[in-house]
Amino acid sequence: MNLLLDAPLDMHLHLREQEMLHLVAPFSAVQFAGGVVMPNLIEPVDTLARLRAYRAAIHHACGAETFTPYMTLFFREYSREELIAAKDEIIGLKLYPAGITTQSEAGVRDFDRIGATVALLEELDIPLLVHGETSGFVMDREREFLPVYQWLAETFPRLRMVMEHITTAAAVEFLEKFDNVAATVTLHHLMITLGDVAGGLLRPDLFCKPIAKTPRDREALRRAVFGGHSRLLFGSDSAPHPRHKKECCGCAAGVFSAPVALPMLVQLFEEAECLERLPAFISGNAQRFYRIAPPAKTVELRREAWLVPDLYGSVRPFLAGQELRWSLSDEQGKG
Ligand code: NCD
Ligand code: ZN
Repeated sequence: MNLLLDAPLDMHLHLREQEMLHLVAPFSAVQFAGGVVMPNLIEPVDTLARLRAYRAAIHHACGAETFTPYMTLFFREYSREELIAAKDEIIGLKLYPAGITTQSEAGVRDFDRIGATVALLEELDIPLLVHGETSGFVMDREREFLPVYQWLAETFPRLRMVMEHITTAAAVEFLEKFDNVAATVTLHHLMITLGDVAGGLLRPDLFCKPIAKTPRDREALRRAVFGGHSRLLFGSDSAPHPRHKKECCGCAAGVFSAPVALPMLVQLFEEAECLERLPAFISGNAQRFYRIAPPAKTVELRREAWLVPDLYGSVRPFLAGQELRWSLSDEQGKG
């Protein structure tokens, strides 16, 4: 049995740079028509010149595959001129609280100072993408950040805002308050809880920000996604780190899910008996919210089992060693 998916999109993706970019980009490029590329490089992507160079490097790494990198600029204080110049080349600005996750040291330290730039985003209709965590107790960080989302949504009522990689029942509920707020949901947060990360032997491959939460939170995410919520968008948050940065004392945060993203999503939706809702989650909702028209591209999956390798180059993928029921028709997808 085959399944055809029209223009799948990954609305939150870390492609990195240099060799890592070349290793990981092809996995996204074969499965997706486009992806929202995160700007947290070692030197953040916060100028148009750097953004253009990064976009060119991504195109080069994707080779002949049809794949649109929807670029983001790293949030800082920007002038109107800078934002007007960038508007047609970006899908949004990505805001990180300073130091909250991988390569976010240049992020926001003082939220009292972001208003002028956010007002410009609202005026110019540029979406704001937010990593919404405080630096509080690790399980409470997302919930504690909700008042910031509330303040942003109330102060800037026309701003289109995306709560990135939500993990809690509270965030799902929050979404009901504002029509111009959407959220991305990862594959791994639909599958794992903190128990999988730290309940047995410690699993560096599953350690990420935001940390996976409780079974109740996971259930709320699954119910909303499988129930067809129109403002939930798939964003893998695939975030590769070389093994020596994960399997060590001081494990880097990030789950490398790009190689398994689409096959595993199909399996999950099939198991939940709602395969008909997958197209909206992986494409339609994002097209509507972001007002984008991705390039024509049909991705074909086959119901044919395959074993996820232990490593792709130096990186351990999500679900390494497990058998998945669906595979990409394109052999490249298996690496
Ligand atoms: C991401 C990374 O490694 O860049 N890590 C992660 O755990 N998700 C950054 C991020 O999205 O938080
Ligand atoms: Zn991310």
